Amino acid sequence: MEFQTLLETRRSVRSYLPGGKPDAETIKKLIAAAQEAPSWKNTETGRYHCVLSDEMTAKFQETCLPPFNATRSMNAAYLVATYVRDVSGYNVHEKTPENEAGNGWGCYDLGLQTENLLLKATELGYSTLVMGIRDADAIRKLLSIPEEENIMAVIAVGKAAEAPFRPKRKAVEDVLTIC
Ligand SMILES: Cc1cc2nc3c(=O)[nH]c(=O)nc-3n(C[C@H](O)[C@H](O)[C@H](O)COP(=O)(O)O)c2cc1C
Repeated sequence: MEFQTLLETRRSVRSYLPGGKPDAETIKKLIAAAQEAPSWKNTETGRYHCVLSDEMTAKFQETCLPPFNATRSMNAAYLVATYVRDVSGYNVHEKTPENEAGNGWGCYDLGLQTENLLLKATELGYSTLVMGIRDADAIRKLLSIPEEENIMAVIAVGKAAEAPFRPKRKAVEDVLTIC
């Protein structure tokens, strides 16, 4: 798919077809695409926990998502995106952030990886929904996610049952300054 088309085709999808979950091989391709992203000193602190079986996706929807996000992602698989804290942009010897932005660069790196992942899914014919409204404590418990990982987004991946409209974006002039 041509790159500009790919960018514009990716949309947040909130309705998925039954039987449209990606298989484990496809999930691996998505993660490999995510790993092509840049990261602080190539530290690659992003981690992904995939919820794929019918039994686990049902449990996940019931215990880890608010009802509105569970409904929107029904029939999809889930990728829980986390990052290992205190590594990216962090001086492990002095236990201080590397700059004034603080100890948050792992989150930045994970965002870069996530967009790669979403675009790869689009290229492979899958749709996605990034969800920031989720119960991190319940996710940690259900998936036994180590304490050293900060849990960020839950990404639903499946086959779209709707063709969502493209939400309007700000004008480039509103977000760009050139001097
Ligand atoms: C960090 C983040 C958290 C989000 N959380 C949710 C969510 O909990 N539920 C939801 O339906 N959409 C969620 N979204 C999707 C956004 O609403 C969506 O990306 C935005 O409206 C732009 O639409 P588009 O993705 O189709 O371009 C989230 C997106 C991001 C990046």
